[in-house]
Parts: sequence; structure tokens; C-alpha cells
Amino acid sequence: MIKINSLELDDVKRIRAVKLAPAANGLTIVGGKNNQGKTSVLDAIAWALGGEKFRPSDAVRNGSAVPPHLKVKLSNGIVVERCGKNSDLKVTDASGKRAGQQLLNAFISSFALDLPKFMESSSKEKANVLLQIIGVGDKLYELDNEENKLYNRRLEIGRIAEQKAKYAAELPEYEGIPKEPVSVSELISQQQEILARNGENQRKRDRAEQLRATYSNITSRIEILRSQLAELEKQQSDIAEDLRIAELSAAELYDESTDELESNIRNIEAVNIKIRSNLDKEKAEIEAKHYKDEYDSLTSEIEDIRTTRRKLLDNAELPLPGLSVENGELTYKGQKWDYMSGSEQLRVAAAIVRKLNPECGFVLMDKLEQMDIDTLNEFGEWLEAEGLQAIATRVYTGSECSIIIEDGYVKSEEQPVSETITTNKTWKAGMF
Ligand SMILES: Nc1ncnc2c1ncn2[C@@H]1O[C@H](COP(=O)(O)OP(=O)(O)OP(=O)(O)O)[C@@H](O)[C@H]1O
Ligand SMILES: [Mg+2]
Repeated sequence: MIKINSLELDDVKRIRAVKLAPAANGLTIVGGKNNQGKTSVLDAIAWALGGEKFRPSDAVRNGSAVPPHLKVKLSNGIVVERCGKNSDLKVTDASGKRAGQQLLNAFISSFALDLPKFMESSSKEKANVLLQIIGVGDKLYELDNEENKLYNRRLEIGRIAEQKAKYAAELPEYEGIPKEPVSVSELISQQQEILARNGENQRKRDRAEQLRATYSNITSRIEILRSQLAELEKQQSDIAEDLRIAELSAAELYDESTDELESNIRNIEAVNIKIRSNLDKEKAEIEAKHYKDEYDSLTSEIEDIRTTRRKLLDNAELPLPGLSVENGELTYKGQKWDYMSGSEQLRVAAAIVRKLNPECGFVLMDKLEQMDIDTLNEFGEWLEAEGLQAIATRVYTGSECSIIIEDGYVKSEEQPVSETITTNKTWKAGMF
């Protein structure tokens, strides 16, 4: 991992002359009051290591007769210098060979030089950086896509399921009604059969009536035709036998009633309406259940995806415990970026940027006055444990500062005693 071994900065921005050998691990704090040149130190380092895109707009110190001079020595033996009228870049590698910006870019991440750029990026961009670092970005993106698709499908199905269930519940239901619609033609054919049988009976009755008439006719003719009496009496007796049989069978005949059928025919339309309604309700209920089942199955699919997603993140090696990505946004201890305090944001940013280029062993941090002494101590310990070098500014002149900048110079040794602050001695970087 590459660190900054030493800095020499002259006549750049607010700086007159600053030399500094930052601690290899942990915090090196550049302290001082406002407008003294603290941020200028970071700007100058970024320019030296980051190239032209980091050149300050007003690089030359106002009032300076000479152009800026920057010299940064790195732990891998590379020496970076900017000097001359145009502040040209001069990179010399460990073997003394000349090199250029490209060599620096290989191991320096530009976020390490410009942490605010990371901090000001959107939550989604931050989340993407984190996901690329832990190598699950594409997988998570796919899962999120799939989850979104299922979620929207379920939303749609849920809405339909609700409508269908409501519709089914509103349909009336009739008790004691046949399952299938009754056929009118069958009832009519039953009726016709009965009428046919009744017709047959009628014919028999007619015949009896006819015989009766003949008998009476003969009887009356007997009166007139005494002479034909005997023959007629024989005829009469023959007929009497037939008559007897006919009358006997006629007496046994009975007519079936069509009343019930007629009433059924009258009711049939009303009944069929109810049957159809019951069938409609049954169908609606089946459909509602189908949608409900689909909704439930989508829910379980979504749950599966969420579990896979959780596992993916749980198994990933995160730059800082408590970091995660939820709905495509970076979170720390379950909170979104906006919700984090300034010091938490600095810590999260440093942790992520540190993993971005594992070769880059340092990060520049402005405005560390956001951290109180306890947070600062804790942060310093974390940096040391990570083997990360941080060069940070802080509007303070307390003993936590490695150097104090005053009017563009490193202020000489004596430290003010006004602040009673516990000092972590390991931060105290050696001075030139
Ligand atoms: N090229 C320059 N020459 C001289 N002064 C400059 C130049 N560029 C900026 N300044 C002045 O330097 C001051 C800011 O310097 P710098 O940002 O380094 O201070 P700082 O110590 O970080 O201050 P703060 O505590 O407010 O952040 C401003 O007053 C600005 O006008
Ligand atoms: Mg500043």
C-alpha cells in the first residue's frame, strides 16, 4: 500500500512554505484558524498527485515572486514534483527513471484526493461504488430488477384479486335451487306425453259413449221393430258385453294432472335466473381464489429474492461493518446518507474510498472539526487498524493537531494550552 512519506509545498494558493512528514498510519491533522491555508495543503497534494484536473484556478500565491513548488515523496520511492513557470509535472520512479501521470494514476484513486466528490455524489452512485468494491453489483442489480418486476406484477394481481373477491361477494346466492339449469323442452315433452295418454283415454271414452248411443237407439228401435226383437236382442246382448268391458275399463281410467308441470313452466325462468346467478358466483369465487393464489405465490417468490439478496450482502466483505445497500441506496447501520451525522459520513466515505484502490494507502480529508475529540480518537484508531493514512484539516489549534498552519507557514513548536484535550500521541507526525 502506497503512502505519502513527505511533502514540501511553497507559494501555492494560501501557502507560503509548508513541510510535513505525515504519520504512515492513522490521522495526521493539519490544524489552524480559518483562512490560514489548511485546505490549501490538501489542494496542493491533490494537484501534485492527481494531475491537471486538480490544478487550482489560482494556484500561484498572490504576491509571490516565484511560481509554486510542490514536492511529494511516496512510500514506493516515487518522487512527484511540480515546478517552473508552468508548474510542469516531474515524476521520478524508485530507480531514478522519469515517469508521468499515468504511473501515479495506477495506484491513486481520485476519490482519495477528493473525498467531497464522493460525499456529494448521489446515494445511488455511492451504493454503486460500494457494490463494485464488494463485487456483487451486477448480481444485486439483477435481483433488484427481478424483485421490482415481481413486485409490480403482484401489485397488479393483488388489485385484480381484490376486485374479483369483491364482485364475487356482491353476487346474490339462492338456497335450494338445482345445480344445473332446467330444460323447458324436456318438461314440454313430458307434458305432451301425458296429453297423448289423456287423448287415448278420451278416444276410449268416446267409443263408450258411441256404444251407449247405439244401445239406446236399438232399444228405441226395439219398441218400433218388435218383429226384429229377437235378433236385435241377441245383438243387444253382444253389445251389452262389449259395453260392460268398455265401461269397466273406462271406469279404471284416470287423468294425470299437468298442474305441477304448468307451474314449473311458469317458474322456470325465475329459477333459471337464480341458477345462472349461483353459477356466476361460483365462477367468480374460483377466479378470485386463482388470483389470490397467484398473489401468494408472488409473495413467496419476492421473499426468496429478498433472502438471496440479504445473503449476498451478508456474505460480502464490506469495507465497514454496518454498511449495506437497500433499494439501490447506500445505508450505514440501517440509515441513509442524509440521516448520517457529518462525522459518520466522513468515516463511511473514508472506508469505501480506501477499498476502491487497495494500492492507495492514503486519503485526504477536509473539515474534521465535525468530529469531537472522542469521535476523532475512535476514527484515528480505526484508520490505524486499517493501515490507512489520512491527512486531514481541522479548524483548531489543539494538541490533537500534528501541525498548525498560520499565515501559510507551519507554526513553530509551542502549542497553545487553551484546550484541554486528550492527545493520541500516535497521530503526532514528525515535522521537518
Ligand atoms: N492564490 C492565492 N493566494 C493567496 N491567497 C489565496 C489564494 N487562493 C486563495 N487564497 C485565500 O486563502 C484563504 C483560504 O485558504 P484555505 O482554504 O487554505 O484556508 P483554510 O485554513 O482551509 O480556511 P478554513 O478554516 O476557513 O477552511 C482565503 O482567504 C482565500 O482568499
Ligand atoms: Mg479549509
